[in-house]
Amino acid sequence: MMKKRKNSLYSWIKNGFLGLLILGGLGFALAGCGSSGVSGSETDSTPMFAASAEATVSALEEPESTALSPSHELPKLEAPAVSSEPEPAPEPDGRKKIALTFDDGPNGKTTERILKVLQENDAKATFFMVGNRINTYPDTVKKVYESGSEIASHTYSHFDLTKLNGSTLQYELTETNRLIRALVPTEPKLLRPPYGSVSAAVKNASPFPLILWDVDTLDWKTRNAEKTVENVLRSAHDGAIVLMHDLHATTADACETLIPKLREMGYDMVTVSELLAYQGITPQAGKVYN
Ligand code: NI
Repeated sequence: MMKKRKNSLYSWIKNGFLGLLILGGLGFALAGCGSSGVSGSETDSTPMFAASAEATVSALEEPESTALSPSHELPKLEAPAVSSEPEPAPEPDGRKKIALTFDDGPNGKTTERILKVLQENDAKATFFMVGNRINTYPDTVKKVYESGSEIASHTYSHFDLTKLNGSTLQYELTETNRLIRALVPTEPKLLRPPYGSVSAAVKNASPFPLILWDVDTLDWKTRNAEKTVENVLRSAHDGAIVLMHDLHATTADACETLIPKLREMGYDMVTVSELLAYQGITPQAGKVYN
């Protein structure tokens, strides 16, 4: 009995040991299954990998996009440089050129009468406008622009520039340009100092070429159309810059005779910028031309 008990105890222990081994093996196998369940964490790591792949892609794109942005900006930087290139000098055509200029406007009715005669005669002129009149006659400014005549600056307040300095002088030199820019897609490139009054300080301060004249009609003084016509015809020559004022009805009257007459005489009536270009001159800021 005892032996049998011993035997059965032994077999129990042996079987138990085997059982433990089997259980342990099963446990190991299960643990193996469990470790294959780690593939669940692999699937978890797949989006993680994808995310890191996306991060890698975006990390690649970022330097690409920063590499692109300067090349996007380059044309922007180049564009003004191209447009600011001086226009090539026109071919000399052997025809006489004259630049009619009108100061102190714009003035609605009289300026527009002059514009009409210019257009009827395929002629252009330069209008040196006083800044503080521009917002009173915005439509006239637009008509001058549309006609192809040149809009230039005659300062903002028509002060003698030689009596000003600092920010007051700068304002007088530049404010008209700001007002013109707000109205039409252009701005004055030339400035005529009131009274033709220029000093070294004005030349130094001016961002624009300073345009004077070589034929003075004294139209403002005589207020006589016939005398204005006579004064122009007596002094007209190839390359002349003629000074008139578009504030006066007598000047508009004079233009109705003068402009067709100049055309008959073989003159091309051009803007000051065109006249200088025909003469091969690139006007410089602060330099005086007449
Ligand atoms: Ni003036």
